[in-house]
Amino acid sequence: MALPTLLCTLLVVLSGVRAVTVYGQVPIATTTSYAPGATYTGLAAYDPRILDPPPLPNPLPANQFGIQLSASASNVQGLSIPVSGAFFGFSVEMSVVNQVIGLNGSFIHPPFLNLMSLVAERAGRVHVRVGGNTQETARMVMELEDGKAIEKQKVDTNNPTQTPALLYTPEVLYLLSNISSLVNVKWYLGVPLNDTSDLRLEIVEWGERILGDNLIGLQVGNEPDLYQRHGHRPEGYGPFDYFGEFGQVLATMRQMGVPVTNNLIGPSLATGDWVPEDVWNTGFIPAYSDALTALTVEHYPDDNCAAIYEGFGTPKDPQAEFAKYLDHSAGINTIKPYLNSTMIAQQAGKPFIMFETNSASCGGFPGISTSFGAALWALDYGLQMAYSNFSHALLHVGGQNVYYNPFTAAPTNESSFHEWTVGPIFYSVLAVAETLGSSNKSQIVDLNANSGSLHTPGYAIYENGNLARLALINFMSDASGANDYTATISVGGGQTGQPNGTPAQIKVKYLVAPSVGDKWNITWGGQTLGGQFEADGRLKGELKIETIQCDQAANTCQVKVPAPGFALVFMSDEALKESEPASTATFATTAVTKAKNTVTIDAAVLATSNGNRGMAGRYGSTSVGSNAAPRGTGGYPGLVALLAVVAGAGLVRRAIARHV
Ligand SMILES: *[C@@H]1O[C@H](CO)[C@@H](O)[C@H](O)[C@H]1NC(C)=O
Ligand SMILES: *[C@@H]1O[C@H](CO)[C@@H](O)[C@H](O)[C@H]1NC(C)=O
Ligand SMILES: *[C@@H]1O[C@H](CO)[C@@H](O)[C@H](O)[C@H]1NC(C)=O
Ligand SMILES: *[C@@H]1O[C@H](CO)[C@@H](O)[C@H](O)[C@H]1NC(C)=O
Ligand SMILES: *[C@@H]1O[C@H](CO)[C@@H](O)[C@H](O)[C@H]1NC(C)=O
Ligand SMILES: *[C@@H]1O[C@H](CO)[C@@H](O)[C@H](O)[C@H]1NC(C)=O
Repeated sequence: MALPTLLCTLLVVLSGVRAVTVYGQVPIATTTSYAPGATYTGLAAYDPRILDPPPLPNPLPANQFGIQLSASASNVQGLSIPVSGAFFGFSVEMSVVNQVIGLNGSFIHPPFLNLMSLVAERAGRVHVRVGGNTQETARMVMELEDGKAIEKQKVDTNNPTQTPALLYTPEVLYLLSNISSLVNVKWYLGVPLNDTSDLRLEIVEWGERILGDNLIGLQVGNEPDLYQRHGHRPEGYGPFDYFGEFGQVLATMRQMGVPVTNNLIGPSLATGDWVPEDVWNTGFIPAYSDALTALTVEHYPDDNCAAIYEGFGTPKDPQAEFAKYLDHSAGINTIKPYLNSTMIAQQAGKPFIMFETNSASCGGFPGISTSFGAALWALDYGLQMAYSNFSHALLHVGGQNVYYNPFTAAPTNESSFHEWTVGPIFYSVLAVAETLGSSNKSQIVDLNANSGSLHTPGYAIYENGNLARLALINFMSDASGANDYTATISVGGGQTGQPNGTPAQIKVKYLVAPSVGDKWNITWGGQTLGGQFEADGRLKGELKIETIQCDQAANTCQVKVPAPGFALVFMSDEALKESEPASTATFATTAVTKAKNTVTIDAAVLATSNGNRGMAGRYGSTSVGSNAAPRGTGGYPGLVALLAVVAGAGLVRRAIARHV
């Protein structure tokens, strides 16, 4: 008995590990590969590790199978609630706002605008949360001495989480607001809740005033189920205490006369030390129904904490973990603990949001989080959440010290000659946006395809009640082509009792890479965002959409899905038209810092030119972590004011170009 109990305890502890900011800084990657056996010591976001694909399953799933579909949603069981193409959004750790979003209202990072524009053109809008652990100790001040919009206060070494307070000015809100005037980005903001005797609700007041309708939610409490474990609250802190604190924030907002008080978000549990039901059982939903705009949780399916912190045992081997991400059970198992809650949320008429997630807490895994395999994992996980009646899911952006970023800015001292780096899961965001379209009326069903094979999952999407798209995944990696599969799609006819409904032709868009381990050869409809340090946030290359002729007499269309790969099947031209943007607003990437940023400039030339001046400071980063000390160090090196100093920054010249 003892051992399983111990194991269970350990697992519970690990699964709840999350979120404390890491402020260390390590040398920046200068190479894109390293010799076998050598250890990479650069910034996590640029880790060059490539993993081998896991072995093929045994037995192999069938490589030919049929998918029988009904043309109309009325005959389909288990369809989700209507979901929006803005299903996937982003969660930006508050402390890295200046790294990835911008420095102030007139200095926006153009790649960020371009990336948001790609999503907005497909989904209609993008949801971005600014918050995380660093929201808890944040404090808004009217001014910072050197004109900065955000900076870290000197760390208080008595603080067990070692998270320095973040100071920011209303300028950060102007930054967000100015972005929304260029691209349809809607924002969630985090309200600090570390000290309920000193509620600092300036962000509520100023956030509502400056952002108006572009503010879609205020998060009250970030992972309160971990407050006690992380030393933020005394022993015995429980769901009823959180219930009380939420009420305190609401009451204070009302006293302050804040105009909008129905935009609160909770409980944002990590599902570490409590389960959502613990909060529902306090009467949280009916008590605050008028104030709640959404119910939220935050969760990562795995953790890489042992690699970073002492006291977590032997670090996990990414190669051994890789296979866990590469089948349909990954998403299903992560979501299972929330199925009761998505039902409860639906009954309460509230959206249920996965407010912060990614491949693994404590920064993700080298080789996994940066792989095409992670793109397929995120796609299946996202579609499974949509099928399970989540309304949104926000992929966390932690900065240069983590592996899992959907996008990473160039290190500041290299931003004059390096572009950004787009991670594989950004492609999943585009693919999910196109899968669901921009109508807000898509309903999705897991097809249990290929007799429920975990390696070849598929979904059907009904829009306005009619079959619109199919999403087909092949998790296997086999360059020989022997494990590509062919799905034979039939609409109506057969046992459905409906007339044959297979169209004359269908269109297919592919997300592919040579292997699940691959990093830089990912294409979506033939287009790419570029390799390491090559992204300005615009898709490059010709858009390629394949046309497949169907056999209407036989009522079949055959779609091939490569191993590995994802196929988005458009069942009608309208379904395609709605997903594919006619044009994307783009923002020039000149003048981000000193010199011109173009992918064609030889880094070596620029590195020695006047354009690359030494930097007075560098950006810090965050990682979802724990309150343990970093492995191999006694504390956090260079803790003070790592954020925010940008030397030689020029003005952003913004140019909007339309391209078709
Ligand atoms: C940028 O800073 C890092 C860390 O100090 C250093 O390793 C790297 O060489 C610098 N890059 C340039 C181009 O100076
Ligand atoms: C953006 O924000 C700043 C506040 O810093 C404001 O002065 C400026 O006019 C805003 N608008 C644009 C389009 O930059
Ligand atoms: C769902 O949650 C409610 C509220 O906490 C609880 O009463 C019920 O037992 C839960 N049902 C399941 C199947 O877990
Ligand atoms: C999602 O909600 C719909 C509508 O209430 C319901 O029929 C379906 O069973 C739910 N799906 C899941 C996985 O709970
Ligand atoms: C989708 O929903 C959003 C949020 O409610 C709304 O702003 C948008 O107009 C809707 N789009 C369509 C096409 O109805
Ligand atoms: C915005 O930041 C840039 C770069 O640091 C700086 O040059 C500019 O003066 C700032 N603008 C405002 C309004 O603070």
